[in-house]
Amino acid sequence: MFAALRAAIGAAGGALDFAAFMQFALYAPGLGYYSAGAHKIGPGGDFTTAPEISPLFGRCIARQCREVLAVTGGNILEFGAGTGALAATILETLAALDALPERYEILEVSADLRARQQQRLGALAPALAARVGWIERLPETPLSGVLLANEVLDALPCERFVVRAGSARRLGVALAGAQGAASDAASGAAVGALREVELGDAPALPADLDVAALPEGYRGEYRPLLAPWIAALGATLGHGAALLCDYGLPRAALYHPDRRDGTLRCHFRHRVHDDPLVHVGLQDITAWVDFTAVAEAAVDAGLEVAGFTTQAALLLALGIERDVATTTPESARLARAAEARRLLMPAEMGETFKAIALTRGLEQPLSGFALQDLRRQL
Ligand SMILES: C[S@@+](CC[C@H](N)C(=O)[O-])C[C@H]1O[C@@H](n2cnc3c(N)ncnc32)[C@H](O)[C@@H]1O
Repeated sequence: MFAALRAAIGAAGGALDFAAFMQFALYAPGLGYYSAGAHKIGPGGDFTTAPEISPLFGRCIARQCREVLAVTGGNILEFGAGTGALAATILETLAALDALPERYEILEVSADLRARQQQRLGALAPALAARVGWIERLPETPLSGVLLANEVLDALPCERFVVRAGSARRLGVALAGAQGAASDAASGAAVGALREVELGDAPALPADLDVAALPEGYRGEYRPLLAPWIAALGATLGHGAALLCDYGLPRAALYHPDRRDGTLRCHFRHRVHDDPLVHVGLQDITAWVDFTAVAEAAVDAGLEVAGFTTQAALLLALGIERDVATTTPESARLARAAEARRLLMPAEMGETFKAIALTRGLEQPLSGFALQDLRRQL
């Protein structure tokens, strides 16, 4: 990993901007965190996600899918399906409701996770497994139905900036001098071999971000790749809804002067820290999502922002409490209740995680967003 990273830094003239470094650390073929064999998601991995915590999440999302599919027909396309847990629950729930889509397509950039998905979803009942397929790139003909992405936006590479004398300086990654050749054989990662550098004025910041209002030394992140990603998604969605769930905030809250260290976090064996320059290729790197940027890109792509709410409000509106209450036997119900608390409680995932619905040609409101409408904050 480190030799390839050193070569990439050299080829870039001595420093990579942070987004290029993150792209490398997460997605370099055969080496990056998502490309290589690290266990990643769930117990025994580095982090967990809502579909891994409980099938309650997928059951709720399945009911939202059913409502949309009843109008649009067509298929479900999931981006970045992780271990396949969400897909499995959605297919089983829709089968029980006699509302299966023709196809459940998955677009996954990680060969390793794709193999795990194939194993997991291949073990479903044959009538369900037969509907699942993997695609390499977005279809050229717009589709009808539902697009899903849980915790995918936060995995798109971000740039980092630091405020110096009222202007934003772009941060990058370089080799740490003579130590640059050293690598820590025990962890497999280069430790102390990389350093952060400032690369000049940060380009392409959100246009309405008032950098002058931020304190000296403030650090933040932004994603130049987000708008093109949403534009591509918009071009794919002919009729239906895209449901994107992730941790994040509207822009004004995300870049609040009090949040002076930004939101970039690394996940390594269920420990969270803020140093992306260690364990390169062995740890996840993420940053919170600017949901105002998502909404702006969606509008530019001709989509309607049909809803924005917290994960708790989404799941409550989609009947999570009924799911728990009707679980039998009692021991299973208690376990589900504990899972629901993790998904719903503000101190856990309930408030930090948000859901945004982007639609095209869909008249009726979406049930998942009926309880709470936070769109005015975007
Ligand atoms: C944090 S994991 C979330 C996995 C899963 N959705 C879940 O909730 O458990 C991020 C996922 O997004 C995938 N991914 C990252 N960038 C992607 C992209 N541009 N297109 C599709 N998948 C992507 C990763 O390989 C991984 O499967």
